[in-house]
Amino acid sequence: MLNYSTRQRLLKKTAFSPVSAVDLFCGAGGLTHGLMQAGVKVEAGIDIDEKAAHAFVSNNPGSKYYLWDVGRKKYPSIDKLFTKGKYRLLAGCAPCQPFSKLTQAIDDHQCWNLLNNFARFVAGIEPELVTMENVPELAERGQDVFDNFVGTLEDLGYYVDWKIVKCEEYGVPQFRRRLVLLASKLGELKVPEGRLTSTSKWKTVRKTIGSLPPLNSGEEWPDDRLHVASLLSDLNLKRIKATSRDGGNRHDWPDKLVLECHKKQSGRRYHSIYGRMWWDRPSPTMTTLCTGIGNGRFGHPEQDRAITLREAALLQSFPRSYEFWPKSEKLNRGAVSRMIGNAVPPKLAKALGQAIIEHVSG
Ligand SMILES: C[S@@+](CC[C@H](N)C(=O)[O-])C[C@H]1O[C@@H](n2cnc3c(N)ncnc32)[C@H](O)[C@@H]1O
Repeated sequence: MLNYSTRQRLLKKTAFSPVSAVDLFCGAGGLTHGLMQAGVKVEAGIDIDEKAAHAFVSNNPGSKYYLWDVGRKKYPSIDKLFTKGKYRLLAGCAPCQPFSKLTQAIDDHQCWNLLNNFARFVAGIEPELVTMENVPELAERGQDVFDNFVGTLEDLGYYVDWKIVKCEEYGVPQFRRRLVLLASKLGELKVPEGRLTSTSKWKTVRKTIGSLPPLNSGEEWPDDRLHVASLLSDLNLKRIKATSRDGGNRHDWPDKLVLECHKKQSGRRYHSIYGRMWWDRPSPTMTTLCTGIGNGRFGHPEQDRAITLREAALLQSFPRSYEFWPKSEKLNRGAVSRMIGNAVPPKLAKALGQAIIEHVSG
């Protein structure tokens, strides 16, 4: 549960908001949380994942969670969630997998229909404001779907702006590229520029996780069960120990530790796998599997382990007290890792929320 003063601050900030929002595909609430920090009242989140409900409602006071399949809903059931008399914002981040670099067979994927569903709700409800976030590949590999989405909005009379943003320029301590779209019926609304364009201003891994208690592989910090390091096999422990501190990678290893697949020509490309993060840079992009060293550069800069769930959440710019799992239940690490990796970084969402509040206030 968010601590008392943070909850009160959010409630106060959103109590008289001119904007009433609904978050489609809300997950654990990264997007909602940032919008609320900016003063947008998010009335409800909608998602098909029951495991995300606790995180969403415990950290976003006043917002309800609906366990609905967006593909099966008709627009009036969403429309009635908004508060009458306010500017309505339909926000959403449809699942990114259909377009991500890691997914080859996009034609087979049903999920991109979800973006068409988003467009269907916009057409039915015609909210004054829309925001959508997705992976940059949407504008390339999913271009037809994306063009359709933008075309629908423009035909409905929206001013539409979109761009690929760099999250590190918005104060997120992480290199993460995302496609962000804003649309308004009220007039010109631009995706805000990131203010931190100079590298010296970027938030670093050191600043974000440097003060957390040290852990060994497989260890859990008793005061925070999200600060838990995955247990490494003996071989992987040897590998991380052989990886130089602060940005080292598998090229530091003696030959006997190198994986057979990495010795082949095709395996030489993945330099980051098994690597350590750099202390004084933003982290690499957090994914749903970011607490395993074999899945990317997810090694701690100097401790011999992968990053923990709490560290991943902080690198996604979630507040330290964000609660992802009910205290009374056994922690489901896979589910929490998925929620964290999938989230819109709240700091990016806050910048979007601020642009929206300024737009309607102007
Ligand atoms: C990229 S994540 C959204 C992350 C979220 N916006 C955040 O900031 O934390 C996509 C979400 O879509 C949800 N989802 C997938 N299919 C869905 C469906 N048919 N109806 C509703 N939600 C769905 C997933 O459970 C997942 O939480």
